[in-house]
Amino acid sequence: MLIDFAALEPKHAYARMVSLIVPRPIAWVSTISADGRTNLAPFSFFNGVTSNPPTLMFVPVNDRHGNKKDTVRNIEAVPEFVVHIVNGALAEKMNACAALLPYGESEFDAFDIASIPSERVRPPRVADAPVAFECTLHSRLDVGEGPLAGNILVGRILCAHVRDDVLDDAGLVDPVKLDPVARLGGESYSRLGELFAIKRPDRR
Ligand SMILES: Cc1cc2nc3c(=O)[nH]c(=O)nc-3n(C[C@H](O)[C@H](O)[C@H](O)COP(=O)(O)O)c2cc1C
Repeated sequence: MLIDFAALEPKHAYARMVSLIVPRPIAWVSTISADGRTNLAPFSFFNGVTSNPPTLMFVPVNDRHGNKKDTVRNIEAVPEFVVHIVNGALAEKMNACAALLPYGESEFDAFDIASIPSERVRPPRVADAPVAFECTLHSRLDVGEGPLAGNILVGRILCAHVRDDVLDDAGLVDPVKLDPVARLGGESYSRLGELFAIKRPDRR
């Protein structure tokens, strides 16, 4: 099968991409408005960028009317955010946060998600998340315009909170204890399957 993306409407291109680029980690992102109202939303167009400087990126796309997501509006006002890693226990709450709430209505309150203050940024963090990266906005790149156009947001990682119970005896993250949830196409998700290692070739 050959998929001609140049001939696809954006919504169909999106459906194809999310089923082909898999599995995707999920950034569960908390932000805050200028007047202190919190927001929490999941984004699976998400990954690390580089360690020099420590950075990550996620991509809120415009809605089908071409409007920016609440997360983007908040970051434009307060350029700070917390990116949480979602585990199996939090998957339902994360998914609830994809609901369309009016701007300013907090998903923390609407879905009974416990928050605690962050160390170095204004948005609070999810109390039960296994990992939380506190970030300031490093840079932004807008790709396209109108419905489903992307706003690539690069965050400078200031610090990360890692729950002690996901660490092994050496103090490293144990992926099985972390239990990360990944997104596939449509409404499908995955958890870790078989783990294996492959020795890397020599490198510079
Ligand atoms: C698992 C999952 C992953 C998602 N990934 C994205 C994404 O990468 N980009 C995006 O714009 N929306 C994504 N969404 C949809 C947003 O979470 C949804 O539009 C949400 O309402 C945005 O919240 P906000 O307007 O409060 O920022 C995803 C939803 C789920 C459940």
